[in-house]
Amino acid sequence: MILVIDGSYRKDGFTEKVTVMLRGEMEALGVEVEVIRLRDTPIEFCLNCRKCTQQRGDKPGECVHNDGMKDLIQKIEKADGYILASPTNFGSVTALFKRFLERLVVYAYWPWGTAAPKLRKAESKKKKAILVSSSAAPAFMARISYTSLRQLKNTSKTIGAEPIGIISTGMIAGNGEPKLPQRTVRKIRAMSETLVNHINNDKLVKT
Ligand SMILES: Cc1cc2nc3c(=O)[nH]c(=O)nc-3n(C[C@H](O)[C@H](O)[C@H](O)COP(=O)(O)O)c2cc1C
Repeated sequence: MILVIDGSYRKDGFTEKVTVMLRGEMEALGVEVEVIRLRDTPIEFCLNCRKCTQQRGDKPGECVHNDGMKDLIQKIEKADGYILASPTNFGSVTALFKRFLERLVVYAYWPWGTAAPKLRKAESKKKKAILVSSSAAPAFMARISYTSLRQLKNTSKTIGAEPIGIISTGMIAGNGEPKLPQRTVRKIRAMSETLVNHINNDKLVKT
């Protein structure tokens, strides 16, 4: 199963359109896809209590909150690959995506008395991820000036995945009803195939 995590606010916006097309392409290639829209998922803010970081092991720690993250963490654990998507707002991922990212601290082992956290999945075999970003600014400028891709990479690393592709689209805010440029459509097709091939190869290695 490929898990799509979408941190956009806008129904039928650019990010949603990209993820809908990715889903269609990957399902056509025979893979099960599940889409999580963070805006529809009840997620509390991290309390920085670090209870979840005290527990040992490579499994995510237990959070004190009892909300939509419980289910989402289980889906993250179960997934074979990921699509991580967020528009750029004020130079970074949306607050919606950042709130989700902070809750991924359950993937860190950080007992009191140690200066820095260790990622629980640092040593495990990496699953694969595709990162999806968009901005009003041209994509090359966004790459240089914004932290959106860095945050998406951070997310990927934290859950134990290696990014194998980026779909970054700029100059999309000129129209209230954004359309997917041809270049983005081509990238979506190519990336879908790459991710599905990786997952199928990993399954062959396991059997
Ligand atoms: C609150 C807000 C802040 C934004 N900040 C930026 C920005 O810093 N740089 C930029 O290039 N685009 C910025 N944009 C444009 C969005 O990145 C663009 O509209 C978005 O990628 C659309 O995604 P969506 O259609 O999925 O909502 C901003 C838009 C909003 C509403």
